Amino acid sequence: MNINIKNVGKTKLYYFNKTDSTNTKARNFARNGCAEFTTVAALEQTDGKGRLGRSFYSKKGGVYFSVVLRPDFSCEDVLFITVAAAVSVCRIIEKYSDKKCQIKWVNDIYINSKKVCGILTEGEFGENQKFNFAVLGVGINLFAPKGDFPAELPLADSVFEKSDSSVFSKRFKKRIIKDFLNEFALLYKNFDKKDFVLEYADRSFLNGKTITYVKCGVECTAKVLGIDSNAGLVVETNGKTETLHHGEIQIVGMEQLPV
Ligand code: BTN
Repeated sequence: MNINIKNVGKTKLYYFNKTDSTNTKARNFARNGCAEFTTVAALEQTDGKGRLGRSFYSKKGGVYFSVVLRPDFSCEDVLFITVAAAVSVCRIIEKYSDKKCQIKWVNDIYINSKKVCGILTEGEFGENQKFNFAVLGVGINLFAPKGDFPAELPLADSVFEKSDSSVFSKRFKKRIIKDFLNEFALLYKNFDKKDFVLEYADRSFLNGKTITYVKCGVECTAKVLGIDSNAGLVVETNGKTETLHHGEIQIVGMEQLPV
């Protein structure tokens, strides 16, 4: 269907009841030359993809969507697509609920110390480190699935309670997607300034927490000091300050299972 979004203009939204992965579908559309901001959404995914080759739990109850982008900036800035998307998701969730959203570096949205959303940006690059396109995928757990989240995902949670039936419809999910596109487009169109990084840093879930990460094969323990202007995670380890730009971190004292 065609949708009209203030900050985007006319774009196409393909909305499936069930698909394997909206990122995979969007990537195929992108390879076939679809317009920027073409969006693929689903009520359920059978092969939802997460970071680092993990799968993303995608049963009914969530909203799963992927947006095709054709960035004109260098591939080095790919991280900032996720950063802008994380800020946009927080704003939209807070528009429709009374919950406060935090961002767990790099790509997870947390409410009350539980994960309610994951973001996966995948880029395809051509010559000169330029993007052919990027696919921005967002999965928000609006409601817990029937029978609740599986026991292997103790950190997963939903934005709304089952009793909030007014926001359960497919129409509401479409509204969330449209509002997200509108909010994200605003940041994306002024990408050079990257002023959204400030809000990303303000929303950091990790500040003050002790984390572990692996560097050159060695496990390091550090205290998180904050997020810098390049969206790097600034940590203190053995009395020294260090900035992490990518990779996996674990929070000490929280269950170490993926969500
Ligand atoms: C993560 O938590 O590691 C990232 C999860 C990203 C999930 C979204 S859901 C929509 C899109 N399609 C996918 O297969 N993955 C992303």
